[in-house]
Amino acid sequence: MRILIIGCGSIGSILSEAINDMPEVDKFYITDVSSTYAQHLIDDLSKAEYLEQDSRDVYEIISKVDLVVEAASQEAAIKYAPLALENGVDVMVMSVGAFADDRFRDKCFNLAKKHHSRIYVPSGAISGTDGLHAAASSNLTEVHLTTRKGPDGLRNAPGLALRNIDVDSLVEATVVFDGSAREAVDQFPKNLNVAATISILGVGFEQTRVTIICDPSTERNSHTLAVKGEFGEMVSEIKNMPSPSNPATSYLAALSATAAIRRIVGNVWIGI
Ligand SMILES: NC(=O)c1ccc[n+]([C@@H]2O[C@H](COP(=O)([O-])OP(=O)(O)OC[C@H]3O[C@@H](n4cnc5c(N)ncnc54)[C@H](O)[C@@H]3O)[C@@H](O)[C@H]2O)c1
Repeated sequence: MRILIIGCGSIGSILSEAINDMPEVDKFYITDVSSTYAQHLIDDLSKAEYLEQDSRDVYEIISKVDLVVEAASQEAAIKYAPLALENGVDVMVMSVGAFADDRFRDKCFNLAKKHHSRIYVPSGAISGTDGLHAAASSNLTEVHLTTRKGPDGLRNAPGLALRNIDVDSLVEATVVFDGSAREAVDQFPKNLNVAATISILGVGFEQTRVTIICDPSTERNSHTLAVKGEFGEMVSEIKNMPSPSNPATSYLAALSATAAIRRIVGNVWIGI
């Protein structure tokens, strides 16, 4: 199997190290806007080759590999995912916030159907997506995401300025947003990936409720997913440690990408 990884930051580098050890992977390619770090990374990876960002090589390889993994940015997802999909190549998207754009999401989902390519979106920084996915096969009455972050994880969000909230002056846990996932996407873009994943899986961006709490006493990013419906009720809570190289990304997000690739290359899917 051959894989192209776009972006080797905190998620892409953990993923690259794991992929290098997977016997099912013969070779993989890495591209990144920053060549210095990528070159340094591949020094220790026997199966990896670096491709200059946006080079002809990238556009050639993207149609020849078995899987493209986007672990870069929404811009990268928008640029490369359709190209891979229309060539019949499967794509794993980490910047799932790109799918908050209904037109882009429809375009990609339709390309996948037409060209028999697959789109994989790992659970990322949240837990409970398996239960939500199964529960959504019957009627759901409530999908509620509560995210709790320290001031560093929320500072400069446009939604704070809208409400005149200065996260540095808070002395206790305070609700800084309560509304639909659609509104959260615009007002708290750093929360976008998790909100997008559960909205697409469950009841959509308008019906999914999001509450964001700024808690000055925590350095972890916690997410509580509460779901009610014909299936019963589910509550799933995760208290994430930050990624070793990027405190803005939860370590679990990189682990979820690695676990998803293990499933894909191993062809065994348990607990889906
Ligand atoms: N699904 C989830 O729950 C979840 C969780 C955490 C992060 N993410 C998303 O995954 C993505 C990667 O996260 P990260 O923590 O590894 O980020 P990061 O900033 O640590 O690394 C991103 C890397 O991608 C490179 N890059 C950016 N745009 C590029 C482009 N157009 N082409 C090639 N390379 C490009 C950057 O140079 C950088 O090295 C981000 O978009 C982030 O929002 C998703």
